[in-house]
Amino acid sequence: MIRPILAANWKMNKTVGESLDFVNRLKKLVIGINDRQVVIAPSFTALYPVGAALKESGIGLAAQNLSDNREGAYTGEVSARMLADAGCTYVIVGHSERRILFGESNDIIHDKIGMALEFGMQPIFCIGETLQEQEAGRTFEVIEKQIKEGLNQIKADDIKKMVVAYEPVWAIGTGKTATPEQAGEAHAFIRQLMENLYGKEPARRLPLIYGGSVNPDNIGKLMAQPDINGALVGGASLDVDTFGKIIAF
Ligand code: PGA
Repeated sequence: MIRPILAANWKMNKTVGESLDFVNRLKKLVIGINDRQVVIAPSFTALYPVGAALKESGIGLAAQNLSDNREGAYTGEVSARMLADAGCTYVIVGHSERRILFGESNDIIHDKIGMALEFGMQPIFCIGETLQEQEAGRTFEVIEKQIKEGLNQIKADDIKKMVVAYEPVWAIGTGKTATPEQAGEAHAFIRQLMENLYGKEPARRLPLIYGGSVNPDNIGKLMAQPDINGALVGGASLDVDTFGKIIAF
């Protein structure tokens, strides 16, 4: 059994004060909930104070991005070492907004995954097709390429430290969720592909989470799919009571 992961991706929202207010309320909501892993991904500026507030709470801290370089003259970038030092145990890599708005290629994402692993953080590796690709019937082909290039030469041992997030781009922030069957089918495909690439054991243990307009009303049906092990939640994670309902699915 994979412990479900419910991760909040706050994107470019919330100040330090707003972030702390949220997590202090969240900590009370999740007292006694041990059968699922909650993760919060605030902005870079809020990582350190949020991490301090989350100490001993069991709630994980994720960065939303990291540099593909180790250190040096990369103005404005944040390295894996800095993020681990700030308390991150997870980092979101290859979110579609990074791919589409900031031109991140599978190769860059691959290097970022390597950096995250090297510094002991679990990458939450995002994949998913655009609306155009979906309409052209290319969903599986696109996610296969993203996985093969993003994980190129990453060893089965490291796969055990990863989370894969399937996020169809057409479902992100649009209110248009994939149906549980659509999402379940994509997840089953991903699990089978991972088994072909890395063997049964790493594939069976890999948390595969779904993202794209997840809310308190659809989380239950999504989680009922055998290959869906959690959710990466954007918009609906910004309000603590709404996110609390998703956690309590
Ligand atoms: P959404 O975002 O829940 O607002 O669709 C999900 C994500 O981008 O991870």
